[in-house]
Amino acid sequence: MTIRHFLTLLDFSPAELISVLDRADQLKQFQQEELAHESLKNKVLGMIFEKSSTRTRVSFEAGMSQLGGSAIFLSPRDTQLGRGEPIEDSARVLSRMLDVIMIRTFEHATIQRFAEYSKVPVINALTDDFHPCQLLADMQTYREHNGSIQGKTVTWVGDGNNMCHSYINAARQFDFELNIAAPKGYEPDADLVKQNKQRVNLIADPKAAVKGSDLVVTDVWASMGQESESDQRLSAFDGYQITPELMDHANSDALFMHCLPAHRGEEVSSSMMDDARAVVWDEAENRLHAQKALLEALLLN
Ligand code: CP
Ligand code: NVA
Repeated sequence: MTIRHFLTLLDFSPAELISVLDRADQLKQFQQEELAHESLKNKVLGMIFEKSSTRTRVSFEAGMSQLGGSAIFLSPRDTQLGRGEPIEDSARVLSRMLDVIMIRTFEHATIQRFAEYSKVPVINALTDDFHPCQLLADMQTYREHNGSIQGKTVTWVGDGNNMCHSYINAARQFDFELNIAAPKGYEPDADLVKQNKQRVNLIADPKAAVKGSDLVVTDVWASMGQESESDQRLSAFDGYQITPELMDHANSDALFMHCLPAHRGEEVSSSMMDDARAVVWDEAENRLHAQKALLEALLLN
């Protein structure tokens, strides 16, 4: 049997992604009804975090225990990974002990190299280039509120970062139109945009980009690892804040999402976080359900 990894949304077919979302809805239902569901009994997830996390860590760890398994938190501070043990050796050793491994790291190539040497499924829990797990939750949340996203228009406002790249992949896999409003010099990867040019539009002006949208999304202006650029970015992104007034240019039933953590007063106004169109708390909760479905898909199918 070949091992399946989940390094980007392109590792699953559109139909497989939809079935993960269907299962996520079902697992959410079980959770709400307090029905025990131990499909991953005795399975162990290893979680390698080279960057901070609240949602990702807690959702994976809680998810594994709810499914009857367990999770081990591994940080470079107290493992040999932080002392230079090669990624290939770590992958070979850890994958002989664990059933599935989740990694949050910097370079995307690191996780690709790890996956190459791993005997068990590897999940991308965020790299500098992609954040596919967040997109599972976002897509589940959109569907839950407003039905299928197929044929809809999504607008990304802000940095052309890892989340934006995963939105480009999502546009392809879930079949929607994607407008991207990013300031000059902060656009997403040009090759990725080019590969998806039939559905991805770069529109620098946020108002023009948001017009006719069904979903508006943003993320921090300085991602983890870019802290030293914070001041420079703060001025470069001036005018790119999501506010209720900007949202008024979108469709009347448009939703607002943010993967969180949010910086109120920077990429999003405080009033927008409290606006009825913001579904950020459902979005955060769905990380739990969507990743439980992902873990099942990787371990049981
Ligand atoms: N959205 C997200 O991945 O959050 P954490 O950084 O808290 O895991
Ligand atoms: N773009 C952000 C997402 C955090 C969940 C970062 O990489 O820091």
